[in-house]
Amino acid sequence: PRRVVSGLQPTGTLHIGNYFGAVRRCVRLQDSGDDLMLFIADLHSLTTHQDPDSLHANTLELTAYLLASGVDPERSIMFVQSSVARHAELCWLLACLATNARLAHLPQYKEKSAKMKEVPIGLLLYPVLQAADVLVYRGTHVPVGIDQLQHLQVAAQLVRTFHHRYGRVFPTPQAILSGDGSERLRSLRDPTKKMSKSDSDPKSRILLSDPDSVIELKVRKAVTDFTPQVTFDPESRPGVSNLVMLHCLAEDKLPEEAVEEAEGLTTAQYKRVVASALCSAIRPVRERAARLLERPAVLRDVLRLGAARARVRADEVYEDVATRLGLSATV
Ligand code: TYM
Repeated sequence: PRRVVSGLQPTGTLHIGNYFGAVRRCVRLQDSGDDLMLFIADLHSLTTHQDPDSLHANTLELTAYLLASGVDPERSIMFVQSSVARHAELCWLLACLATNARLAHLPQYKEKSAKMKEVPIGLLLYPVLQAADVLVYRGTHVPVGIDQLQHLQVAAQLVRTFHHRYGRVFPTPQAILSGDGSERLRSLRDPTKKMSKSDSDPKSRILLSDPDSVIELKVRKAVTDFTPQVTFDPESRPGVSNLVMLHCLAEDKLPEEAVEEAEGLTTAQYKRVVASALCSAIRPVRERAARLLERPAVLRDVLRLGAARARVRADEVYEDVATRLGLSATV
């Protein structure tokens, strides 16, 4: 059976790239019967400085948004990464198989480290911890956006190296991209870039917490081009096509259908259609999350239960791995 594993960093409110590109797809896999383990990647978030109070608040907020998005804590296992110590323990074992040259070559590492005066080792190890996150549950499928592919390639390589030395313990985890465009939603201000939590312009992204009026404003201000008609051509018209994509994701339709609906509308008029579709899709999630956030004790219970269930699974795999390596944990 498939074991689906994915994680999200608690570095601020989710944007619709995170939602359509990862969260909603996880929920749909859960609903179609897959075994889903979804966690809050707080250890990964420490690779850039986090204010402790904000990190704590963001973790609870993310829990609320994931539940509001339809993650069912009875059927799926939802937890905080740091509450299952095996992630970090397996990370160490894998780090001993990973090479500095390979890790230092990854585009995301190069990009992020270039902006830092002092580069923490955690940033270099980032993909190794991500590999551990998945392998510690023998995860088979990892729904993510395109930006995570480079990290999962490291995981695949670590699995190969591990097999070589110690035998077959892990399945090779496979990234699953949506293929519907949600694997890379673009910035509303600069459609050549991805929509990102760290972009300095808040109008570049729509947050799940944005009220309708803010969604409308951000869509109205979205950068397009000088052709008034609405067409779908991500290569030559990335801005308009990104709006078509958002329309499609919000209403579960195909680009052809959205473009047909937009016939006779200028992009300015079409933006109203897109904004209204997004408002209808996001409003229920936002409202459910707001209600959940009033009950932090319930959120903590969900996380506590999730961690307990995750630990049982992680212990089993870790002990198997440790034995293969000759570690005496089980002596
Ligand atoms: P994070 O927190 O940056 O993003 C969470 C998820 O959202 C996806 N995503 C997007 N999808 C489409 N369009 C976008 N513009 C966009 N921006 C972000 C990301 O691809 C991701 O799926 N390293 C991971 C967290 C992580 C993880 C893991 C994921 C840690 N361990 C193990 C999978 C498996 C990260 O920083 O995601």
